[in-house]
Amino acid sequence: MNWEYQQPNQDDNRFLMELLGAERVRSDSDSIQSAASDMTEDLVFLPGLVVFPETTQEVSQIAIHCHQRNIPLTVRGAGTGLSGGALPVQGGIVLSTARMNALPTIDEANMQVFVQPGVITQVLQECVEEKGLFYPPDPSSRGSSFIGGNLAESSGGPRAVKYGVTKDYVLNLEVVLADGRIMQTGARVLKNATGYNLTQLMIGSEGTLAIITGITLRLIPLPALRWTFLVPFQNPNQAVSAVAHVFKAGLTPSAMEFMEREAIAYTLAKRPDLSFPEPNLAPAYLLVELDGFDEDELQRQTERLIPVLDGHQPNEIWMATTAAETEGLWKVRRSIGEAVKSHSIYKEEDTVVPRYFLPELLSYVKDLGAEFGFESVCYGHAGDGNLHVNILRGQLSEQAWEQELPKAIRKLFQKVKELGGTLSGEHGIGWVQKNYMDVVCSPAQLDMMRGIKAVFDPKHILNPGKIFPDTD
Ligand code: LAC
Ligand code: ZN
Repeated sequence: MNWEYQQPNQDDNRFLMELLGAERVRSDSDSIQSAASDMTEDLVFLPGLVVFPETTQEVSQIAIHCHQRNIPLTVRGAGTGLSGGALPVQGGIVLSTARMNALPTIDEANMQVFVQPGVITQVLQECVEEKGLFYPPDPSSRGSSFIGGNLAESSGGPRAVKYGVTKDYVLNLEVVLADGRIMQTGARVLKNATGYNLTQLMIGSEGTLAIITGITLRLIPLPALRWTFLVPFQNPNQAVSAVAHVFKAGLTPSAMEFMEREAIAYTLAKRPDLSFPEPNLAPAYLLVELDGFDEDELQRQTERLIPVLDGHQPNEIWMATTAAETEGLWKVRRSIGEAVKSHSIYKEEDTVVPRYFLPELLSYVKDLGAEFGFESVCYGHAGDGNLHVNILRGQLSEQAWEQELPKAIRKLFQKVKELGGTLSGEHGIGWVQKNYMDVVCSPAQLDMMRGIKAVFDPKHILNPGKIFPDTD
């Protein structure tokens, strides 16, 4: 549908400069370029202006103005997204949260933290860790991603398998609505049965419903110990087959990651500063971590874990013996996404299925590659059944990449749906997956989502062009 948007003009620019000061309203080419893309493929959409509010009141004034003028308003965190959620596909104004990054306020007694959306996730984590507290969600981009973006895209990360994803820690939000009203979504309590859950509605809404300006998160005690195991397998299917059995045995590792050989090989080639315990890479690995407070308990868990893994014919299991070894291994794991991206133009699918079906999903991906002639590199959060499928452009022709590949991706998602899964576990729908929404969402489900969008943002100014299929 055509919403007849306006692009910001001289008057809009003047209004915003009066509101924010010239330094926080940018139209120079560097600022426009850097707000035009995120980490999603090689996509570029230029906004008209980029603004940098510092307060909720300023965000509200910007929203009121855009609402009156029908100017698209796209919120941007650190731009680490993988589904194009921050791309200003209709131009307009990009609202960067980079200046909304005051130091988090920790309420130690209640084990909560209040944080602005522009705080880097790792900065938040380190702040609370100084107090012996723990904010577990750890997307690979946590060294640069903003907490607000993590909420908007419903981020996960390796530790989700034990601790849950971002949404599981959000107690309350302050948001600015499309028309500029400022609203709390709930209360900073651990349980809340007071009407609809507007807090959770915001998580994963990708900036299409409201602008998150304040976040209250719950925290837990920081585990003192982490034991990290690298488990090589000759056969990738054996690696993913082992996963469900570990949980069935009553173990809950704090990470259960899968990595194909190529994922590691591309990473080591791009990052010679990183090292990996095995010089000769096996076809696939599980990276398994146990954490807790008590050494004897971890020992007991390890004694139960090893026989389960042994049942799936691993090569020799390696255990990190120092914090540096653990960190080194995680650096490799966290660098895979960027390394694969720099290796080739690619498309990333964030498939997620019930974890026992991972072997079937992995085999299907490889069969699809054989049928459509593409190479894929798979890795991800096996414990959550969340497989990142990176499809490399390689030697594929323009025609194969643009015309044929979407058919393959549709088939992949149909398989995912058949297995009880869905399009995205933690990267969101954004721009690149929206035309597959019909595969997993019924017309009724999409209608409900459209209705919610219409209530929150009747003029469709907030992050237009996302989540809903092009046919809308
Ligand atoms: C990861 C990101 C890509 O798991 O989600 O590394
Ligand atoms: Zn991931």
